[in-house]
Amino acid sequence: MPSMRPGAARAADIREHQITVSPARAPLTGKDRPATDVWAYDRQVPGPTLRLRQGEPVRIVVANRLDQGTTVHWHGIRLPIAMDGVPGISQPLIEPGESFTYTFTPPDAGTFWYHPHANSLQQLGHGLSGVLVIEEREPAAVDRDLVWMLSDWRLGADRQIVAGFGNAMEAEMSGRIGNTVTLNGTVPDDQYVRAGERIRLRLVNGALARIMALRFEGHRPLVVAIDGQPCEPHEPDGGRILLGPAMRTDVIIDMQGETGGRYAVIDDFYPGDLTYTLTHLAYSNERPIRTNAPDTLLRLPANPLPEPDLATAERHEITLQGGMMGGGALKGVGGMQGMMPDMGSHPAWAINGMSMTGDGQAGMPPLLTLQRGRSHVLTIRNETAWWHPMHFHGHSFKVLTRNGSPVPHRQWSDTVLFAPKDVVECAFVADNPGDWMLHCHVMDHQEAGLMTILRVA
Ligand code: C2O
Ligand code: CU
Ligand code: CU
Repeated sequence: MPSMRPGAARAADIREHQITVSPARAPLTGKDRPATDVWAYDRQVPGPTLRLRQGEPVRIVVANRLDQGTTVHWHGIRLPIAMDGVPGISQPLIEPGESFTYTFTPPDAGTFWYHPHANSLQQLGHGLSGVLVIEEREPAAVDRDLVWMLSDWRLGADRQIVAGFGNAMEAEMSGRIGNTVTLNGTVPDDQYVRAGERIRLRLVNGALARIMALRFEGHRPLVVAIDGQPCEPHEPDGGRILLGPAMRTDVIIDMQGETGGRYAVIDDFYPGDLTYTLTHLAYSNERPIRTNAPDTLLRLPANPLPEPDLATAERHEITLQGGMMGGGALKGVGGMQGMMPDMGSHPAWAINGMSMTGDGQAGMPPLLTLQRGRSHVLTIRNETAWWHPMHFHGHSFKVLTRNGSPVPHRQWSDTVLFAPKDVVECAFVADNPGDWMLHCHVMDHQEAGLMTILRVA
């Protein structure tokens, strides 16, 4: 029984939700198999999907019943810094037995998610994450609106989470990639669909480190939003939907397969043996909802994002450094040590020569101070030999170019995936005052130094 309940209307008519963080057991490998000990929001993995309304204030009371401090970060939501959930920077830890009330008004409709920003590798890795859907004022014209929260776990033969978070070797390489992928909290069975229906599928990669590239056999998904922000509807490159950790993609799929048919959904990001079938779309035997796909192109209404003025923008260079095969680039860099559980004290990564480790903590000096209200262009260079989903809090980036070529489809993101050596230019208006984290969302990379702060003042 979910304990999340929309509260009665209050004086200001603010909706209230309550979430409890606690240890729990979850049927990750299926109902007939032993449950896994996890940490969970409202005893569910993933946590309850919060459906909020664009432009309507909400109050979310988070009670901590873990035996360690936590916070909640509302990933991708452009909210005031005091609600951003970064310990020491935007709020103190919510200590065991305490609660904290988050209040904000989501400005943008779309697919977002929430997770801790404290002891992040362990807390996210033990199951603390949930999806946040901000509903458009007018619902999109689809038959069904589905969420696939994808996560990955490293489980032992006893189906329990294997220890060894923060392994220094993994931290310098691709991070803690698991051996078990779940969809909405369980190793997936077939996903039932009906011929002719139009589905909006909200894909969320909630994994610590696993990058995914999803292909829907026999179907042509159309990407309509990236990281919650509507884009020009388009088919993904090569039919593969690339999702790094923390990234979201909304697709529209017209179910044009055969009644009774079964079509694989394949993740082939890692080649060879590591390619696997995530699930199947299994068509019921019901007669098709409609015979022809709707001929309307579904376009989501734009969110109220401020458009950067490239002519007057300030330009900044940001360089990602370190990692295995990083050529010793980290010798002699400055350090800003945070909590680096189990990881020793040797940072593996840096941004512009500075390693901030942990989850964010008081006293971290900003890499840049950006003038509030101005447009800024960041040129971010990945000098490393590894992939990085780089995430910025409190804003959304307009992605301009990748390796010198314009990025099509009017793409805005809060988490931009970098291949090794990629150079990406992105722009935004610094309209949200505060100290905002910019970090890799591979949790081992973040905790081992691939993190910094951009101050908007
Ligand atoms: Cu989703 Cu700072 O993170
Ligand atoms: Cu975030
Ligand atoms: Cu990274």
